[in-house]
Amino acid sequence: MRYTGDIGLLPSDITPESAWRSRRRFIQGVALAPLALGVSGFAQGASGGSPAGPVLPAERNAEWPVIDAANSWQDITTYNNFYEFGSGKGDPADHAGHMRLDPWAVRIDGAVRHPMTLDIDALRQLAPLEERVYRLRCVEAWSMVVPWTGYALSHLLERVEPTEEARYVVFTTAVQEDVMPGVKRRILDWPYVEGLRIDEAMHPLTLLTFGVYGRELPAQNGAPVRIVVPWKYGFKSGKSLVRIHLQAARPVTSWMRAAPTEYGFFANVNPDVPHPRWSQATERRIGSGLFAPRVRTQKFNGYEKYVADLYQGMDLHRQF
Ligand code: MTE
Repeated sequence: MRYTGDIGLLPSDITPESAWRSRRRFIQGVALAPLALGVSGFAQGASGGSPAGPVLPAERNAEWPVIDAANSWQDITTYNNFYEFGSGKGDPADHAGHMRLDPWAVRIDGAVRHPMTLDIDALRQLAPLEERVYRLRCVEAWSMVVPWTGYALSHLLERVEPTEEARYVVFTTAVQEDVMPGVKRRILDWPYVEGLRIDEAMHPLTLLTFGVYGRELPAQNGAPVRIVVPWKYGFKSGKSLVRIHLQAARPVTSWMRAAPTEYGFFANVNPDVPHPRWSQATERRIGSGLFAPRVRTQKFNGYEKYVADLYQGMDLHRQF
């Protein structure tokens, strides 16, 4: 299976893989070592570059194509945000392997007719798995393209039958204090909590995600199950979910609580609405090379024609 976008090109199509891998090592070794520190995909070199872990077969769904080639396994699994394991980009890859993943269950409850607790196997089997290549755009103004495996969250929500009260969906993620060094440092008010409006959660792009590159999610990417909401900044996509709760009130999420002027509830990718510390007009594509030009950020991360309807009549500058 090959992971190319519409243009169908991988760096390895242009240059033999051995050559671009050694070029990366060259760049890492010779050029601007301090800068390379911020790009752990490069800094870790070529080892571990092939997908690893249990295989998770899925049909490719190309309904929402992206025009770029997917990032490498190395990029996707070594340059992460998972603050429970520390705030460095390499911390999740270094520490998340200690997370206990078995047994794992997710509770779905609140304003639903059929609350349930599903173990991870039952949850994974609830609907056919699909592979979808999405852009992931972080509020820190970097991005990647990732081949995820999962199914639309709407399948699960339809199964529990939301009641008329259910206007918001709240995602709570795991806390395992003994193996999560970041939880001891109160960077956020744990557990990590995120939320969506019900129509956002029901949107077919919103993916309940179990894998990457045809393998089960590595711990650092949010094993065994996370959410991926591709038109929003990456922090909306909570990792290692333990509870999905439907309710009438808009939740106060972890990032809103930590810095309300910086992180809004909606967090839709928007080049016209800067974050106080990062312009959102352009982004750095992880893995594109130290000297690659920045890429212009697209409204709703390139998914505008699918999701703009959800925000009709809203002032996106105020409701950021
Ligand atoms: N989920 C939890 N539980 N904890 C986190 O710190 N970080 C978020 C999101 N989900 C985070 C989380 C942020 S800021 C981003 S950009 C994405 O995960 C990163 O996902 P990735 O590491 O798979 O690229």
